[in-house]
Amino acid sequence: MKIIDVKTSPKYQVKIAAGLMDRLGEEMLAVLGKPCAVAILTDDTVDALYGSRAEEGLKASGFTVCRFAIPHGEGSKTLAWWGKMLEFLAENRLTRSDCILALGGGVPGDMAGFAAACYLRGIAFVQVPTTLLSMVDSSVGGKTGIDLPQGKNLAGAFYQPKLVLCDPDLLSTLPEETLLDGVAECVKYGILDDEPLFRLFAEGDWKAQLPEIIARCVQAKAEVVRLDEKDTGCRQKLNLGHTFGHAIEKQSDFAISHGKGVAIGMVMAAKLACQLNLCDESVPRRIIACLERVGLPISADYSAGVLLSAALSDKKRAGSKITVVLPEAVGQCGLYPVPIETFAQWMKLAVE
Ligand code: GLY
Repeated sequence: MKIIDVKTSPKYQVKIAAGLMDRLGEEMLAVLGKPCAVAILTDDTVDALYGSRAEEGLKASGFTVCRFAIPHGEGSKTLAWWGKMLEFLAENRLTRSDCILALGGGVPGDMAGFAAACYLRGIAFVQVPTTLLSMVDSSVGGKTGIDLPQGKNLAGAFYQPKLVLCDPDLLSTLPEETLLDGVAECVKYGILDDEPLFRLFAEGDWKAQLPEIIARCVQAKAEVVRLDEKDTGCRQKLNLGHTFGHAIEKQSDFAISHGKGVAIGMVMAAKLACQLNLCDESVPRRIIACLERVGLPISADYSAGVLLSAALSDKKRAGSKITVVLPEAVGQCGLYPVPIETFAQWMKLAVE
């Protein structure tokens, strides 16, 4: 088993091992100290696959369990569904000594974490991510939240889980498309500061090495989060491809998934960096070849104007500035805070 310490306040561990799902009760007992009531918050797809198994595992360790599933998909990451989650916790009389289990991908994970942050002004929660994307990104680092009609993740809280359990066996039920969403984030860690990881996707047999890849990405994220828990400095580097990617997702009405948006966004960032002479033309060329090799898209048919208005509602904007992450090489990126007027020009260069 790989164990990674996330040194936030409070700190916690991410455990990565095949078969962890079958030790859920013991693992939760170890961090919570004694059995309590656990509310499993998930979506309907994950509930059908793993809901009963999680419930039985917890009951076998003495926990009492209730379960609530939202419809799957980004369309459920709303104030209305989040409100229903909170009401479910209240109806089941969870107290401050009880716990939420966030079971699923990024949508139920972020929403359940935000419910944990707010219900009774904060109760314990444990993350069991079931997608590659949520294992390497959203379940680590305490970003919780919901979307608003005006944009993604516009309401939320930094709230760290007690424990994250990643069981790579759970990825076997993922559709290829959903696995690829996570691959985009893994490639991102490679472009950020791990060129050998990037090469694994560009040239290697990445499917055979998923547990090691997950551990490497989680370790990288844990280090960034330790240095900048509240996302005011270097953590913003994790947004490589996201400023453009979120705009593409939003503009497509979420028909283009997060990972695909990030993949296209990373190509846009690389093309822009090249036009600004921050990197040579081998950088976008290598990124495009890598993404095409793994089966991710490299472009979307939206104009600069349309993407600009979608990007300006993104929470990564601070006052009249927006910070863009740009690759200087494969394995090295920089933060570039620019006024909105400059960003508007950059959007045109990125789309060209
Ligand atoms: N997903 C980016 C972050 O956690 O900061």
